[in-house]
Amino acid sequence: MRLLLSPSLIALSLGVTLLIATPTSAQGAGTSRPKNLCKCIPDDKTCWPSEAAWEEFNDKKGVNGKNGVHGRLIATTPVASVCHGMPGVPRDEAKCKEVEAGYGFDKWRSNQPGAVMSANWETFMGEGCLLKQTTPCEQGAVPLYTVNATSVDDVVATVKFASKNNLPFVVKNTGHDYLGRSMGIYSLSLWTHFMKKISHNDMFIPDGAPANTKAEAAMILEPGVVWEEAYNYANQHNRLVVGGNHPTVGAAGGFCQSGGHGPLSPLHGLCVDNVLQYKVVIANGTVLDANAYQNQDLFWALRGGGPSYGVVVEAVYRTHPPASFQVALLNITATDEAMMLKVSEAYYAHQTRLSAAKWAGYALTRKDHLFMVYHLPNGNEATARNDFAPFKQELEAIGATIDKERYLPMPSYKAFLDFWASISSGRNVGLNLLLGSRLIPSTMLSSREGSKQLATTMFGILKATQPNTKEYLSMLVTGGQVAKANAAETSVHPGWRTAGLFNVIYGGWADSTPVDQQKDFATRLTTAVDELRKITPGAGTYMNEADANEPDFKDAFFGPNYQRLLEIKNKYDPQSLFYCRKCVGSDEWDALSVCRM
Ligand SMILES: Cc1cc2nc3c(=O)[nH]c(=O)nc-3n(C[C@H](O)[C@H](O)[C@H](O)COP(=O)(O)OP(=O)(O)OC[C@H]3O[C@@H](n4cnc5c(N)ncnc54)[C@H](O)[C@@H]3O)c2cc1C
Ligand SMILES: *[C@@H]1O[C@H](CO)[C@@H](O)[C@H](O)[C@H]1NC(C)=O
Ligand SMILES: *[C@@H]1O[C@H](CO)[C@@H](O)[C@H](O)[C@H]1NC(C)=O
Ligand SMILES: *[C@@H]1O[C@H](CO)[C@@H](O)[C@H](O)[C@H]1NC(C)=O
Repeated sequence: MRLLLSPSLIALSLGVTLLIATPTSAQGAGTSRPKNLCKCIPDDKTCWPSEAAWEEFNDKKGVNGKNGVHGRLIATTPVASVCHGMPGVPRDEAKCKEVEAGYGFDKWRSNQPGAVMSANWETFMGEGCLLKQTTPCEQGAVPLYTVNATSVDDVVATVKFASKNNLPFVVKNTGHDYLGRSMGIYSLSLWTHFMKKISHNDMFIPDGAPANTKAEAAMILEPGVVWEEAYNYANQHNRLVVGGNHPTVGAAGGFCQSGGHGPLSPLHGLCVDNVLQYKVVIANGTVLDANAYQNQDLFWALRGGGPSYGVVVEAVYRTHPPASFQVALLNITATDEAMMLKVSEAYYAHQTRLSAAKWAGYALTRKDHLFMVYHLPNGNEATARNDFAPFKQELEAIGATIDKERYLPMPSYKAFLDFWASISSGRNVGLNLLLGSRLIPSTMLSSREGSKQLATTMFGILKATQPNTKEYLSMLVTGGQVAKANAAETSVHPGWRTAGLFNVIYGGWADSTPVDQQKDFATRLTTAVDELRKITPGAGTYMNEADANEPDFKDAFFGPNYQRLLEIKNKYDPQSLFYCRKCVGSDEWDALSVCRM
């Protein structure tokens, strides 16, 4: 194994105070590392497993029973290393062609142990191996080893091996995470992507429930199932399940543990509001059932408290009866900035009414237009036109142009999702990306003053973050059942229950962008979104779609639930095997040198 701490990485670690998409840290990796506080790294031969120990764990011959992973261990390298060459990885034209062809596509990336969707997370402190980079290739944050798990036994063996050897450890499913929580420097990665069994039970009763418990229709998913697969399965059984609108996001991994919103949320709640049971492998290798009757604390934490309590090896979700959807599609164009601000204000000011009328949807705002795709469960065209009329009247008064106005009936959720797939693209990944976001309190949207203030603030953010950003997304995935659900049952930020909208801005940079420019954008983004934080005190945000450098992440991601979540984390994972960036308890760690501070 080659030495991972290159001199330039150490130099960087000493000079940089704000890291791009990496933890802030005062302690360099080159300084002495107190053994009892640090995870083992490859440089430390006294603790890092020997080649023989790795081989025994890999257990190609299958002689170690449940202690081995019968040949499923992969020495992992960055995907683009075959294009540039790297110590231990020769350049390979043919393989590089494959990498180039797949690089921007989510399905290809999710099949690579060494790739995630936002490529910046494959790098660490400016070093890594991106396709278009001009500096030499480094391992970056790409795990050193990956277990391509296909069974609960694989998961248990891997968790035990990582625990026993005190290794930096990550769980990777699809790699969609925007905070880089599925990558980790020097790590052993547990890859759940190929655990794909799905089944259903029309009369599900949680394990350990009292005899008179009401049975519910449910879907039972292994952690590698993605939403497209879950939806197809649900559709075959004529049921609905609350998930996201992107086909390749995992259905039972990080999505739901942090909240999980989607087109059905106003109708049926967040993903966390629909979990009936989890099966979890905790840090000591024990498999636990977590539901309303057993390990209730863990069950609560896994419904909104983010990743980091254990590995979910099975999730059981409530399903719902089928529905039809009426889609309304509008593209609203303004001739100048003043007009666009009025369009944006009008958009915000009409949300309370649309939400009360049971609409949900997504809107993209750029400096000259706002494109919205909204949908009404079980609605029809007449209702849709009627509900949009007051908004359109205001837009006409402003002088904005409404273009592409369409009202489309979708007979089923499947039809609705196919329509979504037709207007989105799988080729938008492999980029370097950071986000900024906030849950928007419904009280802000119910006043004209608030709507105007919000529009002005959002435009300020867009301007301050250019040229890296060009648009932001507003999602009406709140209200309705999200607001009605019993907040105490889940650990998502309570801001979800009082939000009227969720806003996310995003931007990126090219692979060849110098580190100081990346840093500059990261700072401008975090600082610009402060204006939104200031006018929405306590509102919080959704940690799955948030700034990786969120200043007060405990409050923003977890709010008043943080302390209890930390107690649960410490109970089930006292060694912090499941450390992840901006997760509960993560502030006790210096992720650069992988030590507890
Ligand atoms: C294109 C795109 C569209 C999106 N759309 C939506 C949307 O509509 N709604 C929404 O709510 N979010 C959406 N997201 C955000 C999404 O919820 C997060 O990216 C989420 O982290 C993805 O989870 P994953 O398991 O697929 O990804 P991964 O990156 O593999 O994992 C995410 C986190 O969960 C942990 N994890 C994964 N599997 C397990 C497991 N079995 N047990 C324990 N921990 C695990 C990982 O360690 C990591 O910390 C979207 C993201 C992208 C990139
Ligand atoms: C992981 O395992 C699955 C299932 O056995 C297999 O199809 C896939 O090719 C493996 N991937 C890698 C990179 O080994
Ligand atoms: C909406 O209109 C703008 C401005 O005319 C245009 O650039 C954009 O492509 C349109 N969007 C869609 C989805 O039609
Ligand atoms: C594993 O951890 C759980 C939770 O802390 C504990 O109840 C259990 O006894 C532990 N099991 C073993 C084998 O250490």
